[in-house]
Amino acid sequence: MEALECIKTRRSIRKFKKELVTKDTLNAIIEAASMSPSWKNTQIVRYNIVESEDLKKDIAENGTLGFEHNRDIINGAPQLVVVSMIGMRCGYERDGSFTTSKEDRWEMFDAGIASQTFCLAAHDMGVGSVILGIFDEDQIAKAISLPEGEKVAALIPIGYPDQECVAPKRKTTDELMRVM
Ligand SMILES: Cc1cc2nc3c(=O)[nH]c(=O)nc-3n(C[C@H](O)[C@H](O)[C@H](O)COP(=O)(O)O)c2cc1C
Repeated sequence: MEALECIKTRRSIRKFKKELVTKDTLNAIIEAASMSPSWKNTQIVRYNIVESEDLKKDIAENGTLGFEHNRDIINGAPQLVVVSMIGMRCGYERDGSFTTSKEDRWEMFDAGIASQTFCLAAHDMGVGSVILGIFDEDQIAKAISLPEGEKVAALIPIGYPDQECVAPKRKTTDELMRVM
C-alpha cells in the first residue's frame, strides 16, 4: 500500500474477527514500528502482547476504569497490545536532569509516534487496531508484571477487522494550518 493511502484509509477498528494475528505478522508490524523516530534514538517503547484470554479479561474488567465501551472492545479483540515506556531516558540528560521544560513528557511523545507507526504498519498488513487512552495504568502494570521503571503508555486492541468504518469528520487544512 502507498504511504498516503495507508495514512488516509487507517481507521480505529473496534470489532474484530476471532482469528489471532500470527507471530510472523506481529514481528513484521513491530519491525516497522521500530523505525519510528525517538528522542536521541533511545527507543524506549515496548509492545507487550496479551493473548491469554484470562489476562485479557482481567484487564478488560478491572483495568478500564469502569468505561464499558473500552471493556467491550478489549473483550472482543483476539489480542491486546500494552504499549509501555522505559523511564528515565527520554527527555533526560545523562546526569538525570531534564533537557527541556517539557521534562519527561517526551516519553509520551515517543510512545505516540511509535503507536501510530504500529497502527499504520498493522493496517498495511490488513490488521485492525484502535488506540485506547482510558485505562487504569497501575492495574495493568501489575496484571502484566511490567518491569520496574516501565509505565503503560497506551492500550491497542488488535485483530482482523469485522466492521467497515467511515472516517469521522476532519477539520479543514484552513483550520489546521497557520502561515506566518
Ligand atoms: C490518544 C488516543 C486515545 C484514544 N482513546 C480511545 C478510547 O479510549 N476509546 C476508543 O474507543 N477510542 C479511542 N481513541 C480513538 C479515537 O476515538 C479515534 O482515533 C478518533 O475518533 C478518529 O477516528 P479514526 O482513528 O478512525 O480516524 C483514542 C485515540 C487516541 C489517539
